[in-house]
Amino acid sequence: MPKIKLYNNIAQIGLDQFTPDYEVNENMEDEDAILVRSANLHDIEYSNNLKAIARAGAGVNNIDIDTCTKKGIAVFNTPGANSNAVKELVFAGMLLASRDIYHGIEWIQTQKENENIVKDVEKQKKKYAGHELTGKSLGVIGCGAIGIQVANLALRFGMKVYGYDPYMSVDAAWNLSRYVNHVTNIDDLYRQCDFITIHVPLNDATKNFINKDSFDKMKDGVKLLNFARGGLVDEDALLDALDANKVAAYVTDFPSLKVIQNDKVIAIPHLGASTEESEENCAVKAAQELMDYLAYGNISNSVNLPNAKMDMNSPFRITCIHENKPKMISQITDILKDANIENLMNKSKKDIAYTIIDLDSEVDTTPIEKINGMIRVSTYKK
Ligand SMILES: NC(=O)c1ccc[n+]([C@@H]2O[C@H](COP(=O)([O-])OP(=O)(O)OC[C@H]3O[C@@H](n4cnc5c(N)ncnc54)[C@H](O)[C@@H]3O)[C@@H](O)[C@H]2O)c1
Repeated sequence: MPKIKLYNNIAQIGLDQFTPDYEVNENMEDEDAILVRSANLHDIEYSNNLKAIARAGAGVNNIDIDTCTKKGIAVFNTPGANSNAVKELVFAGMLLASRDIYHGIEWIQTQKENENIVKDVEKQKKKYAGHELTGKSLGVIGCGAIGIQVANLALRFGMKVYGYDPYMSVDAAWNLSRYVNHVTNIDDLYRQCDFITIHVPLNDATKNFINKDSFDKMKDGVKLLNFARGGLVDEDALLDALDANKVAAYVTDFPSLKVIQNDKVIAIPHLGASTEESEENCAVKAAQELMDYLAYGNISNSVNLPNAKMDMNSPFRITCIHENKPKMISQITDILKDANIENLMNKSKKDIAYTIIDLDSEVDTTPIEKINGMIRVSTYKK
């Protein structure tokens, strides 16, 4: 019975996806898979049995991906499952940055004993006046699941939208409105936009993506939104840009002690995906990804292995995670020369490849495990 270890409270509807053939709980050893939300897994000891980690959410910086890849552990996430929730909060953030709703509410809270409140509101309201979104320009950095939804909705607000994403997938491109201006040089986005929102993953290449150099190129009085990860913005450069009135407001879902000291920062306690709907969507998707992998070796939405999905119509399946180098398939098929291969799929992602082979009968896979460059071999019976 495959064992699934839980590292956070996972929405019940997600746990209900697991059939009775799975053991699912928080306290176990020798787990086959981990289901996690945001718990930090960097310092955990991986069980030798561990085959997969599914993150019910998009960002995976709570997981040591390189170690997982070396050990042949598939890491899944659930892109898109929380994108509507984040999109809605980005718009709340944009409205908070353009109308002084926040300070207005703060002032109202101090007036609980004021019997002239109705009159005073009319006197005070000009202090909190702002601007409309319609007619303003929005730059979206990263046009993935969230960026696309933000860009498309901004058009409906009557904004002029610029999208920047050199690595955009074809699927994503199909979903992005053709009225979004495609920017190939990010400096053009910095120069033209009243609002800039960033929706890229945080990794070594994107750390401090928005830095002094970027701020220097932005319009005076730009409003910056960060609902992706705190580390994408260089906070020292941001504080200088806020002091110099280059940036009029910074709305972030990732408060740090440094940035919350500044009055122009509107900080939200990481609420982007915190809706019941989003947590349920993510939990369901993560559970389904794990079951499809553990039962059939099918991969969808893995961050370290290629997507590979094949209906299993044969009695026996072998899957191999291996280095992406020449002669791997020929060595495998050579070992299987006396067997009847009914179906075969090979996919690669950077340095790693994944091969699924369906056979009409069971074979011993020990010689395949010994091939140089082989990382992990698994077998499945129908
Ligand atoms: N605030 C929250 O609670 C919350 C919730 C979900 C996701 N997130 C964050 O939002 C990020 C985006 O989520 P998503 O679901 O849209 O992910 P996604 O993978 O669908 O999209 C990310 C996009 O960024 C693009 N990209 C990567 N590097 C880039 C670069 N250097 N320049 C421009 N574009 C680049 C990719 O091509 C991709 O299209 C996640 O990585 C996560 O950190 C935050």
